[in-house]
Amino acid sequence: MKNIFEKPIKIYEKEIKNRIVIHPMEGCDGTAEGAIDELTRRRYHRFAKSGAGIIWFEATAVCPEGRANPRQLFLNNKTKSSFKKLIDEIREISLNENGFAPVIIVQLTHSGRFSKPNGTPEPIVAYRNSHWEIGKEEQPYIITTDEYCRQIPQRYSEAAKLAEEVGFDGIDIKCCHGYLFNEFLSAKEREGIYGGSLENRTRLYFDCIDSVKNSVKNTFVTTRLNACDCFPYPFGFGVDKENNIDLSETKIIIQSLDEKGIELINLTLGNPYLIPHINRPCINAPEDGKIGIKRIYEITKELNAAFPDIKFVMSGLSFEGENALDYSAKIIEDCVADFAGFGRMVFAYPDFYKDFIRNGRLEKNKVCLKCSKCSQLMRNASVAGCPVRDSEVYMPYYRKHVLKK
Ligand SMILES: Cc1cc2nc3c(=O)[nH]c(=O)nc-3n(C[C@H](O)[C@H](O)[C@H](O)COP(=O)(O)O)c2cc1C
Repeated sequence: MKNIFEKPIKIYEKEIKNRIVIHPMEGCDGTAEGAIDELTRRRYHRFAKSGAGIIWFEATAVCPEGRANPRQLFLNNKTKSSFKKLIDEIREISLNENGFAPVIIVQLTHSGRFSKPNGTPEPIVAYRNSHWEIGKEEQPYIITTDEYCRQIPQRYSEAAKLAEEVGFDGIDIKCCHGYLFNEFLSAKEREGIYGGSLENRTRLYFDCIDSVKNSVKNTFVTTRLNACDCFPYPFGFGVDKENNIDLSETKIIIQSLDEKGIELINLTLGNPYLIPHINRPCINAPEDGKIGIKRIYEITKELNAAFPDIKFVMSGLSFEGENALDYSAKIIEDCVADFAGFGRMVFAYPDFYKDFIRNGRLEKNKVCLKCSKCSQLMRNASVAGCPVRDSEVYMPYYRKHVLKK
């Protein structure tokens, strides 16, 4: 059987070598200034060897106060040369190993409620959300003023120009997982031009997309979007009054993205801080992972069918473990999604796609165990990676830098 992952596909007039996407995944291993550090390079060198058609760089801050941790990448004039060096290396490694260079996208972000630039929470929020804030009411919340919001598109456009300069092929305006733009989507009670109506709630997100599009010449603009937050009504986006998933506003947003010329959307759901199993179905979770993956599957299928001109990346696939690429081949064959995105699997088993091509199967003793310990490392303020399959690197690092604190 011909490899379905190599079925020809184009986005933004670029031929993509295959349907495998490495999802954005923060390693929390940049320098204090936000430049690429030793472990960051190691991760992306491993990703470069993988043979994936798209490498989607992790959440990269556009301003210091919006960094999610003190080691989050931050693209600016001081750090740009480290990004350029790494991008050149990724292309070279992939060309040597795989005979082609992957498309490389950077995810630009403002972490909003989850900003922790100095290692402790410094939340910058669209509005006070009592569902999220249970037990955290006393934190020093900064509610974004309209004036603060008005200057954010400029931050994005500055970062976008640098992203183009250092050689990224695409720029993702992140709108998911509860970070700033995603939070604005549910700011129904907020007053002023960024709250209330859907037009107002999408204003900041869309202004940034427009501003970035106007700032770059040859770099495409894409987005990672939460189809729904899966918070109970009225605390999130994409849920109706009976707490059922309701994609009607999501569809209006995607329609607008389509009109803005967005051709690729990386779909995701939920909030990794409060309900991580929704986006990363896993073992030992409050919900069976099979239910989680089915939810992501159904939502992706519905949106992909509704927007034939947009290409969608599906998430959560590491949950399928040994079966992940057979499962992904089927979702592509059945037009559930156009691309299969992988996160945790790649930390554990960066060669997974190559092994599949070579042997027609994945190695049982190499696949992601869906334990989500990689997420846990990040939450514990460590560098992220697979402590089970890549323990040679991560456990010594963890012991030296985290446990000693
Ligand atoms: C350690 C870790 C870091 C992550 N960082 C990001 C990120 O920077 N941006 C993002 O959109 N998603 C991030 N995610 C979510 C992944 O991109 C992906 O959606 C999720 O892991 C589900 O896919 P999987 O089942 O293949 O792991 C992260 C996930 C993990 C485990």
